[in-house]
Parts: sequence; structure tokens; C-alpha cells
Amino acid sequence: MKNIKDYIEENKNRFIDELIELLKIPSISADPTYKDNVLDCSKAVAKSLENAGAENIEICPTAGYPIVYGEKIIDVNLPTVLVYGHYDVQPADPLDLWESGPFDPVIRKTKTHPEGAIFARGACDDKGQFYMHVKAFELMINTDNLPCNVKFMIEGEEEVGSENLSTFVISNKQKLSCDAILISDTGILSNETPSITTGLKGLSYLEVEVTGPNRDLHSGLYGGAVANPINILCEMIASMKDSNNHISIPGFYNNVIELTKEEREEIARAPFSLQDYKDALELSDIHGEKGYTTMERTGIRPTLDVNGILGGYIGEGAKTVIPSKAFAKISMRLVPNQSDKEITKLFSDYFKNIAPKSVSVKVTPHHGGEPYVSPTDIIAYKAASQAMEKTFGKKPVPVKAGGSIPIVALFEKELHVKSILLGFGLDSDAIHSPNEHYGIFNYLKGIETIPYFFLNFTKMFKSN
Ligand code: BES
Ligand code: MN
Ligand code: MN
Repeated sequence: MKNIKDYIEENKNRFIDELIELLKIPSISADPTYKDNVLDCSKAVAKSLENAGAENIEICPTAGYPIVYGEKIIDVNLPTVLVYGHYDVQPADPLDLWESGPFDPVIRKTKTHPEGAIFARGACDDKGQFYMHVKAFELMINTDNLPCNVKFMIEGEEEVGSENLSTFVISNKQKLSCDAILISDTGILSNETPSITTGLKGLSYLEVEVTGPNRDLHSGLYGGAVANPINILCEMIASMKDSNNHISIPGFYNNVIELTKEEREEIARAPFSLQDYKDALELSDIHGEKGYTTMERTGIRPTLDVNGILGGYIGEGAKTVIPSKAFAKISMRLVPNQSDKEITKLFSDYFKNIAPKSVSVKVTPHHGGEPYVSPTDIIAYKAASQAMEKTFGKKPVPVKAGGSIPIVALFEKELHVKSILLGFGLDSDAIHSPNEHYGIFNYLKGIETIPYFFLNFTKMFKSN
């Protein structure tokens, strides 16, 4: 496939311009204010698939935002690769921390991206990454290199839990039938150290509400005599972990599989510098569960974090008040063999159990998702590994990620197909944060690598 590099060289400016246009659409799925923008974005995605040469394009309606589908079936006897991605993005706030507008994409050079990076919400997660597949597909069509069938499924609700996609997958198994699922929505260790994600965490996300007195009270008249729901909530949150940062919810670790010595050695082999890690986050020390390394904490251990907390007076100046209510949003990241439904129940029971009688509590579960493990001994993994080795000049290392893509476990359950997580983002690309960006190097490297995956996979599939 000699002409891959030439095609990219000749078309790279257009590839970048097209991505920039897509990034201008504020397709924020979490905020109904952006409803029309999300819908516009689905149309833009459909159009891009059509322009690239896909057929039977559909904007499939759901109870929420539509799923964009397109395909190119060249021969039913050849294998089929299903490409999944998401066109929705996270909210952009806090807006004042952005150096340029989240939906006014600009290219700037950074230390990690000397070739430049595109700054915009969704640049890396996931518009820049799924669009690599659209452009790699265009390349394969236009250079006569498409070796097998392709199906695209790009959804608009990943950042809010993919619930409608689950329904869609369950009722469209035939339409989505395939031999491998390819997803670029994760990262690599660095541009010098390619890696393939072999694990995703499950997720249990819930909201808690603690109610004390029936109204906000004067903190002098009543302070010390009635429960302050903020104080109580903080104590309750604090009692979720012990002094070793081990989660204290009874039964929480019941199904967690302890890793073997070999598995831990494998994790330790991935190049990782604790000093660089701390420097990048400007931390003088790290923090986590005793007995585990940073890579183990993020990759293979379940975690519990407060994502938001609210209560009392937070306006200008001081107000002496004991609030009636306090709230928190809490997530637990889960590892293989833990079930999000079970963990949500264990949390709820524990939270209600530890609440003192002086308050009442409510727990409201949000979305969840099961963890996922990708084996390294299947041909789809080997095809991806060899593709990266070809374009990076180095064999990628398998790495387990701390993030979640809940639909991936459902793909396995319903379609019985494993997903390959061939992402090209960097941890420093600031996904979900202000100043999210995606390296031009990474974008073009992805477009270059994907066709080799298709080629390798088709070859291995035929000789299997
Ligand atoms: N692309 C991310 C997940 C990700 C990023 C996994 C990097 C591994 C490495 C995805 O868009 C995401 O943000 N998922 C959410 C879960 C969802 C239910 C809101 C997450 O992990 O918080
Ligand atoms: Mn994503
Ligand atoms: Mn995301």
C-alpha cells in the first residue's frame, strides 16, 4: 500500500479543514439547549460518510439523538469491520478557562505537539478520532485499497450513557453483524510509545441527597444543635474509604479478581515515569489505594470519586446558614467481574445504612456500564498491533484504561464480537477539560494506521 502516505500528504490540509468544520458544531448531548446543534451534527456526519463513498446511509432516529449508519459492502464473502464512534461531546464549561473558544477550533503548537494540535471541544473525544476512520475509508476507496466490508455506526449519546444505542443494537443485530469492531476513542501512552487499550472500566454513577432541617437555618441560632447536611454528607463520603484508600462499602471487592504476578509484571513493563506524571499535573505527590502502582490504580483497580458537590451558600461574601440539603454526584469505576447493578445496590444500601437518624437520604442511580477486556491473542488485536508497528516503527504495548465506553461490553454480549480499541489520543489532550486538543501528528497517524488494520485483518481472516 505504497500510496497511503502520498494520499495523506496530498490531502492532509483538506482532512484538517474538514475536521475543523465538524468541530464548530456544539453537539453537546447533555444540555438540551444544544438539541438543534446535535441534530445538525448528525447530518454533517452522514454527509461526510456519503462524500467518502459509503452507501445506504441512514440517520436512524432513537428516543434520544440519532445514530448515523453507513456501509460499503464489496463482497459478502469477505469479512466485515464495524467502526463505532460518537459525534456528541461533553459540555465545554468552565468557559473562562479556555484560551480560545471551545467551538472556534484553532491550531496551536504545544510541547507535546510540536506539529500543532487542534484546540476545540471534541477534538480528541471523539470527533477527531472517529473522523480518522471516515478519512481512512475515503483513502482506501480512492486508492483501491479497501480489502473488506465496512459498516459505520456513529452515535450521539456516548457522553450521556448510550442508553438508546443499547436498544438500537439489540433490535438491529443482523444489520450490525460483523467480524470485528474497531473503535478509536481511547489513547496511546505517547507519540513515541504506541499502545492498544485492552481494558475499559465499568461505571456506576449516582446522585445522593442529604436532607437535614425542613428549611435553611440561622447557623448561630441552630448551629451545633441540628444536623448540618453538608457536614454529614462529608462525613459519609469520608467513610467510603479507609486510611489505605481502600473502599469500605461492604462487599465492594467481592467479585474483584486479584491479578496474578505475571499480569502485574506485564503492567509494570509499560513505560511509565511517575515524575513525568506528577510534573504534567503539577502534583508534589500522588494519591491512591495502598499496595498498587499508579498504572494498576487506573487500569485494574476499582475506584470511587465524588464528581460534584453542592450545598449551602456559595455566592459573594459570607452568609451564616445551615442549609436544608446537600448533594453529591458520585462515580465508581469498576473492573472485570464487577456488575454495575450490584455495585449500585451495595452503595445505596451502605449509604442509607451509615446515615445518622438526624438526616434523611436519597440515592438516585444514573447510567452505568459493564467493564470490558480485550484479549491480545485474537486476529483483530494482532492486525491492530501489526498496523501500529508498521506506522510507528514500534510494537504497541497493551494497556488497561481507566475510562469507560459502556456500549463495548454490550457489543460483546449482543453481537458476540470483540472490540479493538485503537485510539490515538494522549492523556495530556485534556478530554472533558478546558482546552481539549488533538495532535495533527496523531490525527494523520491514525488515518495512516487504520488502512493497515483493514489489510492485516482481512489477510488473517482469510487464512484463519
Ligand atoms: N472516550 C471516552 C472514554 C475513554 C477515554 C476511555 C480515554 C479510555 C481512555 C468516553 O467518551 C467517555 O468519556 N466515557 C465516559 C463514560 C460515559 C458513560 C459518560 C467516562 O469514561 O467517563
Ligand atoms: Mn469518547
Ligand atoms: Mn468522553
